Amino acid sequence: MSFLRTLAAEPPFRRFSRRVLSLLPVSVETRARWELAPRPHYLMGVLQAAKNAQQQDVKEICVVEFGVAGGSGLLALEQCAQDVAQATGVSIRVIGFDAGSGLPELCGDFRDHRDQWMPMDYKMDVDALRRKLRPETELVLGNVADTVPEFVASQQTCPVGFASFDMDLYSSTIAAFQLFSRPDRKMLRRTTLYFDDVDFDCSHRFAGELLAIDEFNAQNELVKIDRWRSCRKKSVFKENPWIDKMYTAHDLEAISRVQLDRAPDDERCRLRT
Ligand SMILES: C[S@@+](CC[C@H](N)C(=O)[O-])C[C@H]1O[C@@H](n2cnc3c(N)ncnc32)[C@H](O)[C@@H]1O
Repeated sequence: MSFLRTLAAEPPFRRFSRRVLSLLPVSVETRARWELAPRPHYLMGVLQAAKNAQQQDVKEICVVEFGVAGGSGLLALEQCAQDVAQATGVSIRVIGFDAGSGLPELCGDFRDHRDQWMPMDYKMDVDALRRKLRPETELVLGNVADTVPEFVASQQTCPVGFASFDMDLYSSTIAAFQLFSRPDRKMLRRTTLYFDDVDFDCSHRFAGELLAIDEFNAQNELVKIDRWRSCRKKSVFKENPWIDKMYTAHDLEAISRVQLDRAPDDERCRLRT
């Protein structure tokens, strides 16, 4: 059986295997592994978030999209959240953040990629989008520099488990990182992230989302953002570019607080949440 499973995932067969699986009522795990979702990076990220929540015994998480525009990403995120919640029993709140008026003013130098973006690109039709969204999906309008601190302060106990960053700009991304830098942050010990704007011809580590990540890591001791290093192993289509755009925010402070239980007659440690 395991030989057949490996063979089915070999390059000559896998497109065919995928087609067959798409016709069957397979589990959400299988759909994530085989990219059977319009945005496989969202399904993989949300599923991992639910698993991380279960490991911490957390019953409800938030999943967030930064940069909503027309809303096709937020609609895909809603669907992933519903499927993963059904499969895992973890409740999932879906939240989209957007200015509503398109890209804001760019900062005065190269860091916002003036070679790529213009203010007011991606203006949003708020009413049309709200009609398409489920009533329970939250749309937070305004500049993330203002809305993220307000959101964190109001978040109560529901930690962020997955966040997608698609605001194009360095300045917007670093502002949204207040989600992880504030002392009152509510995130899972491992929060799964997706960065959309890191693999254009113009992309480099000294501007855009990549600069925001480097700067965040240099300025924050308690939370670090790094590539999601096991993501590739979880997908059949290991060469697909989205895998390199998956990251994890590790809450080092929370990890340091993890209690290890060791029964007197047991050499192994058990994790206590
Ligand atoms: C590329 S679009 C998002 C596309 C969307 N994720 C999708 O997949 O369809 C970028 C969005 O980021 C938003 N944005 C950029 N900077 C922002 C900021 N500082 N605060 C709020 N929204 C911002 C813009 O309003 C724009 O709608």
